[in-house]
Amino acid sequence: METTAKFIFDGKTFEMPIITGSEGEKAIDISKLRQETGFITYDPGFANTGACLSNITFMNGEKGILRYRGIPVEQLAEHSSFVETAYLLINGELPVRTQLQSFSVLLNDHSLVHEDMRHFFNNFPRRAHPMGILSSMVNALRAFYPEIPERSEEEEINMTVTRLLSKVRTMAAISYKISRGHKVVYPKQELSYAANFLNMMFDSPVRPYEIDPDLVKALNVFWILHADHEQNCSTAAVRLVGSARVNLYAAISAGICALWGPLHGGANQAVIEMLEAIQANGGDVNPFIARAKHKDDPFRLMGFGHRVYKTYDPRAKIMKEQCYKILEKLKIHDPLLDIAMKLEEAALKDSYFIDHYLYPNLDFYTGIVLRAIGIPLNMFTVMFAIGRLPGWISQWKESMEDPHWKLHRPRQVYTGLNQRDYIPIDQRG
Ligand code: CMC
Repeated sequence: METTAKFIFDGKTFEMPIITGSEGEKAIDISKLRQETGFITYDPGFANTGACLSNITFMNGEKGILRYRGIPVEQLAEHSSFVETAYLLINGELPVRTQLQSFSVLLNDHSLVHEDMRHFFNNFPRRAHPMGILSSMVNALRAFYPEIPERSEEEEINMTVTRLLSKVRTMAAISYKISRGHKVVYPKQELSYAANFLNMMFDSPVRPYEIDPDLVKALNVFWILHADHEQNCSTAAVRLVGSARVNLYAAISAGICALWGPLHGGANQAVIEMLEAIQANGGDVNPFIARAKHKDDPFRLMGFGHRVYKTYDPRAKIMKEQCYKILEKLKIHDPLLDIAMKLEEAALKDSYFIDHYLYPNLDFYTGIVLRAIGIPLNMFTVMFAIGRLPGWISQWKESMEDPHWKLHRPRQVYTGLNQRDYIPIDQRG
């Protein structure tokens, strides 16, 4: 097997090493290309660029495979909890019982948010999007929890990781309560991570919240499925911003901003808005399919297509099952599920979607589950952000420990004007 790739230009041959991943994926190491040849590579959207070597998550977009630290996501969704999966992603191995217990206790101990931060929450306009609030408040955490010089770097990182995992969930619930003008509910020591979140969201002095174990399970599955997805847009943002050696809060805040976009995490909200638009239009999916296919119409079927998956997203399969289970359990008939199924059926038979390898992605069914749990539409992407935190953290940690670490700084091919002189303002015509 060849260990180098050859690049022939102007009669000269240049050799570049081939890197082979543990699942047989191949890459050409072009890190010396410019130095040796004067060329850079051009790859819009980095669709063909490997920016790092990573041990965390394996995806195969052709076969629909997703594994965290080697374990199939299907097994984790069935048997694990979000906290255990977070531990796996961040530490590389599943915890033994005592490790899991102390991790859960630690998350509980740090789940309160500094009382002075409450003033900030109170002063955002009521209509502010919770993703904007979350990214600002995560960045603000550094001001409230500054570095303590006596702590070792490892202790400082562990403390920051714990605070983030624990407080982001509390902050999300606080922003929801404040947006409703309701009393904030504090986390409770006796509740699990997901149960605590539901309680902080929905408990009220006039209507105590009854925690339903099936909803807790559904939320755990939702978060596990979102926990990591290798070098997606927000994770790439966390790695890029982190490469400037900013603090972890700032890097995670950048990830939250990237996730907000409707082509990424914001798609879960956009899917429901699209299904509601179809419903308001009489429920016929065909005009929407026709628009999505039209070359001059920017409209896309939200919750369809993926940069890596060219088959059914394995997470969408699990989410679809959860969707049926939860609606049946809660005895809810959601007309948006009927529309989603009609849309999926029509799209999967349509040659445009077949030829473009466009299948439902994770976001296609998550909104229906979140609606059934009672999560308001503008909080959907926040739910994704809580789930993606362990992925962002583990990817950031890996990049900080990477012996090949470098400041992220892509190049460009300049296509603008050549040098010209400055013209004083009174001589410009
Ligand atoms: N509806 C209609 N056409 C589509 C869609 C869609 N949802 N997605 C891609 N296409 C077409 C696109 O128009 C293009 O057609 P052509 O080659 O004829 O010009 C072709 O497929 C390739 O599209 P692309 O934008 O170059 O592909 P990409 O890999 O950059 O896009 C994507 C990936 C997720 C941005 C895109 O599929 C999309 O916009 N989907 C809708 C938004 C969405 O559901 N996002 C959630 C992604 S999964 C969760 C996450 O990771 O955040």
